[in-house]
Amino acid sequence: MNDIALETKNLVKNFGAVTAAKDVSIAVPAGAVWSLIGSNGAGKTTFVNMVTGYLHPDSGQILFQGRDITRLGPRTITRAGICRSFQIPQLCGELTTIENVLVAHAINRSATPSFFRRANETEEMGRALALLERFKIAEYRNRLMGELPAGVRKLLDIAMAMTGEPKVILLDEPTSGVATEEKFPIMDLVMEALSAEGVTTLFVEHDMEIVTRYSERVLAFYDGRIIANDAPNEVLSDPQVQRYVTGTPLTAS
Ligand SMILES: Nc1ncnc2c1ncn2[C@@H]1O[C@H](COP(=O)(O)OP(=O)(O)O)[C@@H](O)[C@H]1O
Ligand SMILES: [Mg+2]
Repeated sequence: MNDIALETKNLVKNFGAVTAAKDVSIAVPAGAVWSLIGSNGAGKTTFVNMVTGYLHPDSGQILFQGRDITRLGPRTITRAGICRSFQIPQLCGELTTIENVLVAHAINRSATPSFFRRANETEEMGRALALLERFKIAEYRNRLMGELPAGVRKLLDIAMAMTGEPKVILLDEPTSGVATEEKFPIMDLVMEALSAEGVTTLFVEHDMEIVTRYSERVLAFYDGRIIANDAPNEVLSDPQVQRYVTGTPLTAS
């Protein structure tokens, strides 16, 4: 069975004279892991924002498991099963790591964060801790956001998205801002956690080694359009992609 988890049909989004999305149509099978590439301003985040309800397209349609979600807002979409992380992690600096997860859980699942009533031994606390363990950041659970290394912040943001128990997740630049040597370990952890749950995954990425290693298919954005949609090697050897996205031909590795 090859169910389509997420489909977009002819999405158009203009910001004044700028066309951030022009006829963006994709169909992502359930369980797939795809990446989105493109230079700054190509329209990747706009696409993520439209699918997750943070922006509405001017025209076109977004279907989640066949259901039209085009006009729904972010909260409704999250609760339906599409979650996201952000290019810049959206963390509350006044709270600790585990408190951030508890708040995300409360927001994403529409539950009452019981830590406001009782700080320990709650079911949510157990679940939050299990998530932190899965992402190997449990040791930071009582630290405030300002004390966290960049890689831990990125992992925490994704762990927080996972509290929504998504069927589809969109990760906007999960490895941006972290040291090169941390990128592969972070992606290993993230992909292991997502594939364990069978989450359909779209991630925005600038590092072509990461793209090649972790995605089955690559969407190349340029000027609001998808100029290539194929397996990594096909996309990265496409002359248009080399001209407008990667800059130089990818050398064999
Ligand atoms: N809220 C906004 N208001 C005005 N222009 C925007 C807005 N969001 C994005 N844009 C413009 O849309 C284009 C695509 O941006 P974006 O989707 O953020 O690109 P990417 O994530 O690929 O770098 C850019 O030209 C950007 O300046
Ligand atoms: Mg972006």
